[in-house]
Amino acid sequence: MNPPTLLDYLDQLTRQGITHIEVDDDARSVLRELYTRGSARKSPSQRISPTPSIPQTPDAAPQPLAITPTGESPEEKLASLELIARKWQPARDLGTLRDTLVFSCGNPRAELMLVGEAPGYQEEKQGEPFVGPAGNKLNQILKAMGLDRSQVYISNVCKYRPATKNQTTNNRKPSAEELACLLPFLQAEIDIVKPKVIIALGGSAAEGLLQQSKPVGSLREAWHQFQGIPLRVTYHPSYLLRQDEGVGEKRKVWEDMLAAMEKLGMPISEKQRGYFQ
Ligand code: URA
Repeated sequence: MNPPTLLDYLDQLTRQGITHIEVDDDARSVLRELYTRGSARKSPSQRISPTPSIPQTPDAAPQPLAITPTGESPEEKLASLELIARKWQPARDLGTLRDTLVFSCGNPRAELMLVGEAPGYQEEKQGEPFVGPAGNKLNQILKAMGLDRSQVYISNVCKYRPATKNQTTNNRKPSAEELACLLPFLQAEIDIVKPKVIIALGGSAAEGLLQQSKPVGSLREAWHQFQGIPLRVTYHPSYLLRQDEGVGEKRKVWEDMLAAMEKLGMPISEKQRGYFQ
């Protein structure tokens, strides 16, 4: 198989709905040199192609675009990534997301990464993921695990609040296009933080990370992988907020968390094992 070419890469971006890319000075000079060399080999009539042919590879699953942040430490790399996300033109071009970036929070060296779908009203207002009612529920879950927010890394697939008409405090789920547009940032965050376990909170997070749209119930109770890292899918904390007093669904989420704790080698007391039964 031939190695992927620049055109394959651009084709992949196009299929993800990405219409603009950032090109730094180094990349610009490499492209200029390639262009000059290519032009020198072609006849004048071949030099400019107004409609470049894009190779069609319909069967290839879209791979997330790799964004390369600058910096040495995870802290520096995440700061660089945040700056790129703040000016991410493809997100603006969609025209369906709001303008305020809500980047991730927590420990850049965390062993556990939790991934939600997108910021809501409270998150946009406070500039931090999971700080509204769903965030309170997530904090409770972490506390039951013996953790707090500063020990884990908390992110969303989509880093801008999805917009709606006449929006006030109402939120909506991100579309597949919106998830794909911001997924490269999550991929880069995972590369930087290198968590030992990832937990996808809800269907949108699972869809973004696993590239398959299936009910959470059918993805639970199994280990998946993202970039070689064990990944568990569980219900979104806001789903728990919508449940009645019964403990059934809470127990399911708790069992997913116990599985993650076991994978991380965390101590688990008998009391913890018995929560929500
Ligand atoms: N729901 C999410 O998925 N993420 C947030 O940050 C808040 C609510």
